[in-house]
Amino acid sequence: MTLTETPPTSLDDTRHAEIDALVATSAEAARRFRELDQEQVDAIVDAMVRAGVRAAAELAQVAIEETGFGVFEDKVVKNYVATEFLSDYLRGKKSVGVIDEDVERNIVHVAEPIGVVLAITPVTNPTSTVLYKAIVAAKTRNAVLFRPSPYAIRCCERAVEILREAAEAAGMPPGALQVIPDAAHEVTHYLFKHPDVDFIWVTGGPKIVALANAAGKPGLSVGPGNAPIYLHRTADVRGAVVDILISKTFDASVICPAEQTCIVDDAVYDEVLTEFQRMGAHVLTEEEANRLTEFAFGCEDGVTSKVNMEALGQQAPQLAARAGITVAPETKILLAPLPDDLDLLAAHALVQEKLMPVLGLVRSPSVEHGVAAAVLVTEHGGLGHTSAVYANDPAVVDAYAKAVRTGRILVNAPTAVGALGGVYNNLTPTFSLGCGTWGGSTTTENVNYTQLLNIKTVSHRRTPPQWFRVPANTYFNAGALENLRDLECEVAVIVTDADSERRGVVDLLRSKLRTRHVQVFSEVEPEPAEATIQAGVALLNRARPDLLVAVGGGSVIDAAKAMRLFHEHPEKTLDDLTLPFLDPRKRVADYPRDDHRLRLVAVPTTSGTGSEVSPAAVLTVGERKETLVDYCLVPDMAIVDPVLTLSMPASVTVDSGVDALTHALEAAVSIFASPYTDAFCVQAARLIFDALPKVYDDPSDLAARTDMANAATLAGLAFSNAFVGTNHALAHAVGARFGIAHGRANGIFLPHVLRYNAGLPSKFMPAPGYSAYVAPEKYAQLGRVVFGGREPDESRHRLFRGVEDLLDRLGMPRSLRSVGIPEDEFEAALPALAMTAFSDLSNRTNPRMPLISELTELLRLGYAGGEPRAD
Ligand SMILES: NC(=O)c1ccc[n+]([C@@H]2O[C@H](COP(=O)([O-])OP(=O)(O)OC[C@H]3O[C@@H](n4cnc5c(N)ncnc54)[C@H](O)[C@@H]3O)[C@@H](O)[C@H]2O)c1
Ligand SMILES: [Fe+2]
Repeated sequence: MTLTETPPTSLDDTRHAEIDALVATSAEAARRFRELDQEQVDAIVDAMVRAGVRAAAELAQVAIEETGFGVFEDKVVKNYVATEFLSDYLRGKKSVGVIDEDVERNIVHVAEPIGVVLAITPVTNPTSTVLYKAIVAAKTRNAVLFRPSPYAIRCCERAVEILREAAEAAGMPPGALQVIPDAAHEVTHYLFKHPDVDFIWVTGGPKIVALANAAGKPGLSVGPGNAPIYLHRTADVRGAVVDILISKTFDASVICPAEQTCIVDDAVYDEVLTEFQRMGAHVLTEEEANRLTEFAFGCEDGVTSKVNMEALGQQAPQLAARAGITVAPETKILLAPLPDDLDLLAAHALVQEKLMPVLGLVRSPSVEHGVAAAVLVTEHGGLGHTSAVYANDPAVVDAYAKAVRTGRILVNAPTAVGALGGVYNNLTPTFSLGCGTWGGSTTTENVNYTQLLNIKTVSHRRTPPQWFRVPANTYFNAGALENLRDLECEVAVIVTDADSERRGVVDLLRSKLRTRHVQVFSEVEPEPAEATIQAGVALLNRARPDLLVAVGGGSVIDAAKAMRLFHEHPEKTLDDLTLPFLDPRKRVADYPRDDHRLRLVAVPTTSGTGSEVSPAAVLTVGERKETLVDYCLVPDMAIVDPVLTLSMPASVTVDSGVDALTHALEAAVSIFASPYTDAFCVQAARLIFDALPKVYDDPSDLAARTDMANAATLAGLAFSNAFVGTNHALAHAVGARFGIAHGRANGIFLPHVLRYNAGLPSKFMPAPGYSAYVAPEKYAQLGRVVFGGREPDESRHRLFRGVEDLLDRLGMPRSLRSVGIPEDEFEAALPALAMTAFSDLSNRTNPRMPLISELTELLRLGYAGGEPRAD
């Protein structure tokens, strides 16, 4: 709707100064308002509500007198909605200071006022909108400057006067409610740009909405509507007709959510029409409709010009008389049949908003047509506002709600009274109906007090809960293998490598398994490749076992974990599951969550990887190591029988032992370390420092082998929950590139990474559960338990020395150079190695965040060996 505008006048300096003074008064009032507490604010709101309720009839009267349209009784109802309903909604709601606390998320919300709100109010609801905006502003401790429609200035002033008197008596700072009555547009434009106006809150036509949105200030603008209603054959026709009549006659339809075009299902069209007529509707002839269009919109052809103020808000008989149409005196509304052809409908003058008791009527042959017609109506000035559907078929309601772009979609209820909220439904009471971006608003909601607050979020530090997860059963010490005898199974598959099979390990297992149906997959190579996993999965798919036993080193156990995963879930791919992540709890990779169909028993023959209890499986993909990690990979049972490790050659003993030590030392300082994992790290390290030299000297020392086997599993339990760090990232990169055994590669970097982590980080790892940088202390604590020392520095130093002494005593290579990697080859590979190490998941839990330059430096140290950096 576009109302006739007053001609522009220019403002003189005096008026500018006067307006500045009003704004300054508002700003001062806003400052004082901010000091009030919830109790004081609620007392003010209560006083305003009481005054507004008492004045509901008086204000309806002055509105009618001034604007010359609407229905007295309905304007009284509007004023009640704006006071009584609003107060019912606001009662007990917090709008000052701490308004809510989310204990679970450790978040507190604190409400602050905005300051000075410029409120533009419409001619359609001239007093109810003022009551509503003033009360909502008081609830939120904002000062308001009202700019009423030029056609409704006096009634706005009267409403403000009544409210101000009551509110000030209850403690509202003087000046918090003011009216700037000048009709001149320049005043509005001046206020739109005024530095002390904080927020523009518009209820009005499209032009003022667009102007306000262009003003460059925060604001909330709500514009006109053009509500379609669809009446489906499943609707309660008699009920619907009464609803529509109540609503379309409400305040003679000068209310933006009012029904404008009723689209009626062909099946009930005649019935609906008859019922409308029976209840007091006059059906316009084509000629009458043309005459009405001419009168109301100054045209017949659909190209609308200005709305005739004489046509607005008149009750049906007056409107008809003014347009030169004769109707019965008891006529409630005028029904204008509109074309059902959508192109013709779009071109029709009466498809637009009609703020008068004129309702378009469209006959609709199908639900699709009905929905399309409703969409079309909204596209003629009603996008984002309101619509309704009368149907008792949920599918029809759903289809309608999906297609029609309005902020409110009312089901089996009138729009005019319904959209205001609280009468026919549980919508928030309002006189500011958000129209969404379609209608130039920032919200589609029924606007209320929350939109007038600056809500601050006080977010307390969150220390995420941690976990300690271990496999269901771990059997250990010599003879543990006997536990295999207790396992019920029909078909078993043993996964191992060729050497282990040759050593007779498979035969040993066979003798202890309950079933004779045993198949063997002995093709696993060290650091298993993707193709090996695929071959294994193919075997499992054929054999359909109910028990999978992995017997071998970490490579075998890792292969079996991956085989079970892809056997049970052929839809998953290695590529998807190895997607990198920042926080394991939030990652994108989607591991299966269901229970396993196939049990996995892990029987390690090395003492190192901890793979028998860990959620990780490391595979070689091309020249990279890819890590699958998820608790669904954890074996169901671990059998840690040291007897199986007696046959390890010295190199495997040493390599896997150093791997276990690296696990303990990395998990100890991980950002996910906890008292649970710390306990395992310390005990694992103690056992390894003591037992590894012994098994190196005497491979048949069963007691020492037992300590090593248990230590490796303990370290595995620690890193299964705290994970590892940069040492593993470097070892993975270098191991894959140059084919160096995993434990050996770990050993080369270990002295350097220990010192690196003990230094002052150039970049900290963001980790809410890890506040101060405690890595150096953690090393010292562990060092004190194993090596003693009085001061932390001394204990840490002893630990680092102890690591190097151990590596030397075991004859471990201390540099990449010494394992025969040519320098030029290393230098050429260095940038890629640093990048691979950087991308490795293991870095995520390292206490300090390694920079690429630091990884490069660590790789160089690993290449050259020699004296590690001083600690
Ligand atoms: N899943 C995890 O949590 C995890 C952790 C660390 C390392 N790993 C991975 O584990 C693999 C390394 O495992 P590993 O160190 O156990 O070595 P491995 O499994 O690669 O075995 C190395 C060699 O030792 C032989 N061997 C194993 N046990 C033997 C025994 N008792 N007697 C004689 N020979 C024996 C194997 O046949 C093989 O040739 C790497 O791929 C590494 O990335 C996995
Ligand atoms: Fe490892």
